[in-house]
Amino acid sequence: MTFKKINIREVKESAVRLIADDWALVTAGAKERFNTMTISWGGLGEIWGKDVAFIFIRPQRYTFGFLEENDRFTISFFGDGQRKALALCGSKSGRDTDKVAESGLTPVFDGDTTYFAEATLVLKCRKMAGYDLTPDGFIDDTIESNYNGAGYHRMFVAEIEEALVSA
Ligand SMILES: Cc1cc2nc3c(=O)[nH]c(=O)nc-3n(C[C@H](O)[C@H](O)[C@H](O)COP(=O)(O)O)c2cc1C
Repeated sequence: MTFKKINIREVKESAVRLIADDWALVTAGAKERFNTMTISWGGLGEIWGKDVAFIFIRPQRYTFGFLEENDRFTISFFGDGQRKALALCGSKSGRDTDKVAESGLTPVFDGDTTYFAEATLVLKCRKMAGYDLTPDGFIDDTIESNYNGAGYHRMFVAEIEEALVSA
């Protein structure tokens, strides 16, 4: 496993495809204590003069606490590979499962961040803001059907500090 740093603008894949279709792992924490989970909601773009990633995490996720406690997180993309591992990390909780052992993924510990050796693209992100979604902001009435009154996501907006691709 080797990664090389690239400019985020060199990423040619559609962000919608990367996140919504191929899915990704959001990981927060370092070697001593970290957790990872699958996401398929989020985006990449620009705000406040920064290249950013934004992700939507329900407070009941074990990863949520790690995102709250840590200044940084990573988003690991695997192309259309590792589907089984991503399905596992998106259906089991780190509260009662060793997802790394069960998925067979290899964590890479890099300073205060963790990502995965099998990734084809990794975004190292620094949290800038967090917003809790509330139903009074919903304009489209169908959105509430995702919630049934509870578990509204928190949107984390984070600066993309580094983009890495497998070399
Ligand atoms: C394809 C897929 C996409 C998911 N996307 C999200 C998401 O964007 N936000 C979220 O809060 N949960 C999402 N989940 C659910 C979490 O990944 C899942 O609840 C996971 O088990 C949480 O693990 P944790 O408790 O160890 O944090 C998704 C699950 C799957 C399978």
